[in-house]
Amino acid sequence: MGNIKFKIARSISNDCFVQEYQLPFEPGKTIAGWLTRIQEELDPSLLFPISCRAGLCGGCGLMVNDRSVLSCETMLDSYWREGDDCVSLKPLQGFPVIRDLQIDWNSARDRMKQVIPNRELIQDDANKALSGMSKELCDLSLKLGACITCGLCVSDCPVIPGGKFIEPFIFIKSRKIAEDTRVDVDSKKAMIRNLSPYLMLCIHCGKCSDVCPRALSPEEAVRYLRENEADVFMDRTSGDTYNDFK
Ligand code: SF4
Ligand code: SF4
Ligand code: FES
Repeated sequence: MGNIKFKIARSISNDCFVQEYQLPFEPGKTIAGWLTRIQEELDPSLLFPISCRAGLCGGCGLMVNDRSVLSCETMLDSYWREGDDCVSLKPLQGFPVIRDLQIDWNSARDRMKQVIPNRELIQDDANKALSGMSKELCDLSLKLGACITCGLCVSDCPVIPGGKFIEPFIFIKSRKIAEDTRVDVDSKKAMIRNLSPYLMLCIHCGKCSDVCPRALSPEEAVRYLRENEADVFMDRTSGDTYNDFK
């Protein structure tokens, strides 16, 4: 097979440009594998996000041919055929870019802390375990806990560029906390109040669910949280768990 050509979005200081690289094609390599080859064989200055290389940490998101993917578990073969002009690689959308393909997570983390003030508390209370939860709730909690905070849902959400929304995965984390019997009702109410301005902004397009590598649905979480929002604001709530809101 011939050469494969990459066009990679680069940014160094304030200088943004697209750089081309070519390598002989070989099948069965992930995007992360190709980026490592480019870095090792052609350009050590290229910066791209990578960590566990096993689909576990969520730290390798980027855009290939304008689709948001985890680079360590995405084979290039499905994005390039001989005769194609090139493969384009860009950083995930919806985040500031540190350099090249590396995005900055600081503002997203800060927003998550502002909306979910009790995350530390939940860690501290881990010994209380999930004893008060039904099997269904435990299963749901485990499922929601599969979010690897990869940011693909941020990149594909059409409301994010407006600058007034929050990262869709925050709705998944919030939904998990809403179901957690270790968290007190007042903390859950405070969380819903913090989320309230953002719940209205979701347009329910489902793009976040379509792109999620863990088959989670931030959109569904928004629907659930909105259903409970009115109760929180009208103070129709009591009891020890979020489920008692209803
Ligand atoms: S909800 Fe899915 S796409 Fe969004 S950060 Fe979590 S794992 Fe990634
Ligand atoms: S369903 Fe809502 S959160 Fe998900 S991508 Fe669409 S607007 Fe964004
Ligand atoms: S590097 Fe950890 S999920 Fe890809």
